Amino acid sequence: MLATRSIAEDILQLKRDRGAVILAHLYQEPEIQELADVVGDSLELARKAHDFSGEVIVFCGVWFMAETAKVLNPTRTVVVPDRDASCSLVECCTAEQVRAFKKRYPEHVIVSYINTSVEVKAESDILCTSRNAVAVVNSIPMDKPVLFLPDINLGNYVKTQTGRENMMIWQGTCIVHATFPARRVSKARSEHPDALVVAHPECPPDVLRMADFIGSTSAIIDWCVKSEADEFIVMTESGVRHMLEKRAPGKQFYFVANENCNCSECPYMKMNTLEKLHECLRTLQPRVELSAEVMARALKPIERMLAVK
Ligand code: 13P
Ligand code: SF4
Repeated sequence: MLATRSIAEDILQLKRDRGAVILAHLYQEPEIQELADVVGDSLELARKAHDFSGEVIVFCGVWFMAETAKVLNPTRTVVVPDRDASCSLVECCTAEQVRAFKKRYPEHVIVSYINTSVEVKAESDILCTSRNAVAVVNSIPMDKPVLFLPDINLGNYVKTQTGRENMMIWQGTCIVHATFPARRVSKARSEHPDALVVAHPECPPDVLRMADFIGSTSAIIDWCVKSEADEFIVMTESGVRHMLEKRAPGKQFYFVANENCNCSECPYMKMNTLEKLHECLRTLQPRVELSAEVMARALKPIERMLAVK
């Protein structure tokens, strides 16, 4: 195995040779974030992928994010460090299930979270991310019934924020956020009485009720940076610690362990390593390859989302 320093140098050289851009989600390991050209939440990275005019997009995140990049910029080569980096939300909602729902409830507008497969996106009317979900649902005329899929916690949060009654919600969950126990948030609050609570909307309602701020990964970071407070209990994946400490040096961030792993790490996001990043730049594999038909159908709901202000 190469020493870490030379892997990093090799990656940067390969990146130049390939005309590549490295996009990294905020849940990636710090050493990957440090090598990336852009680090952001899923909406920011989708926009960057859309605007990229070079040859190769290396997507350090999870597979559905790389698929979205390919749909938005189909003439680029899109590669990932690990093809198996999936997402529990993607796994709990198939295109067949969505087609069956549409047959039964043809009048519903299908609002799909970006954490879905490209095939589910192709069955959807409009997409959303955690950053714009409320605005996306508000963009749909009030008299139209909605199906929000697949995250039950984000769906319930959006329902509360929009006051929308005619909204059905899928029963999917994120294995990281949905297993944060409210009792551990209460304990963290008693240990750190001056800390404010910030949470991703994939957390359960009892956790969200304790939050001083709810938002996407980037929105959480921006809010903590701007806040006058010095301490925060952070209810999202622990990869955000790197950017929080970089952008808000001197502030304290406390992470609460979930029930699954006694940590707050996404096992899918953490499948990516520097070695795998190096290998995918060298071989340009694993590569996202999608049929023109599914890309054309998935593009429409993504573009509708990007048009929502
Ligand atoms: P963001 O859209 O906030 O980046 O969230 C993506 C995600 O997978 C959250 O678990
Ligand atoms: Fe999916 Fe949850 Fe991991 Fe985000 S944190 S990629 S929603 S499993």
